[in-house]
Amino acid sequence: MADITEHQVLTALRKVEDPSQGKDLVTLDMVTGLHVKKSNVSFALQVPPHRGPAMEPVRRAAEAAVRAIPGVTSTTVMVTAHSSAATAETPPDTTVEKVIESRVRRFIAVASGKGGVGKSTTAANLAVALKLEGLRVGILDADVYGPSQPRMLGVSGRPASAGGDMVVPLENYGVKLMSMGLLVPDNTAMIWRGPMVQSALTQMLDNVAWGELDVIIVDLPPGTGDIQISLAQQVNLSGAVIVSTPQDIALLDVVKALTMFEKAEVPILGMIQNMAIWKCPDCGREDHIFGEGGVATEARRRGVEMLGEVPLSLSIRVGGDGGSPVVVTEPRSVQAKIFRTIARRLIDVAGLRLEAGR
Ligand SMILES: Nc1ncnc2c1ncn2[C@@H]1O[C@H](COP(=O)(O)OP(=O)(O)O)[C@@H](O)[C@H]1O
Ligand SMILES: [Mg+2]
Repeated sequence: MADITEHQVLTALRKVEDPSQGKDLVTLDMVTGLHVKKSNVSFALQVPPHRGPAMEPVRRAAEAAVRAIPGVTSTTVMVTAHSSAATAETPPDTTVEKVIESRVRRFIAVASGKGGVGKSTTAANLAVALKLEGLRVGILDADVYGPSQPRMLGVSGRPASAGGDMVVPLENYGVKLMSMGLLVPDNTAMIWRGPMVQSALTQMLDNVAWGELDVIIVDLPPGTGDIQISLAQQVNLSGAVIVSTPQDIALLDVVKALTMFEKAEVPILGMIQNMAIWKCPDCGREDHIFGEGGVATEARRRGVEMLGEVPLSLSIRVGGDGGSPVVVTEPRSVQAKIFRTIARRLIDVAGLRLEAGR
């Protein structure tokens, strides 16, 4: 089937009205960031901030209209709040939306099938390890329901304004960070509804003055939900790294995550097995607490790179939960060396070194 065109999408959206203004979404100039990738369509509806929550029925209608186009397989519609939107005198400032992608060379997602497998821990250690390799690195904590990067990187406080709608990311260990955990009080994000989460993500991409970066590591929420899909459509991900523990159940979830990225045409850069091995600190014996080699088997079966195996370790847990990743606190430890090796492999697999020109 022929690819969907923007024209088809806009024609469908001309039939969807914003009832409060009595005009269709295209005439109202509300549709922004329209992105059509084969049969996947994503775009945002730009509205003034106070109208965000009330837009849900319109958002759903827009989504339904586009999904009804023959051949469309997935549709992601976000509501973004822009103070300048939807007023004829001040056209939306599209230059702001371009800033981020033009100055960040690569976005790499760290994903997992389920929560608690050590995805955020891995993302934090990898980000710092990539920094130690000389790259300019940021972390985008896209887990808006349970942001953990401020804690993992020992960052707190509010981001300063960078003028206009933009904020300055916070920084520690040379890694720039933006997270919902820095923008809203503890636990507020937990009660957010789908469309608000989507616009939060859009804002963390568009309204953060990241500056020049070689790579942004995106710490995704667990699973295969809307955030993953809309992120894949919004930022042209260079690839995803999948973290898993070796148990079968975790692997079933991993397969779902792999399939999701395949569908979104995001390359899988590699897999990381976490918490597989526990080494007795007294006798040195190694135990495979959650089973052995499960992730490597799946990686081989799919022809995906096995980036490394991270052991179950007290210093990884204490470091992560205490705001100082093990690559910083115990740089000579086995654990730190494993993360640094994984970072170097990732640089090779994703071609980061060449791009950074160093
Ligand atoms: N290799 C490891 N050894 C020991 N504890 C770990 C390891 N990896 C992660 N943890 C701990 O497991 C918990 C969950 O990890 P986290 O990175 O938050 O998982 P996720 O982001 O996948 O939900 C945290 O308390 C973290 O410190
Ligand atoms: Mg996490």
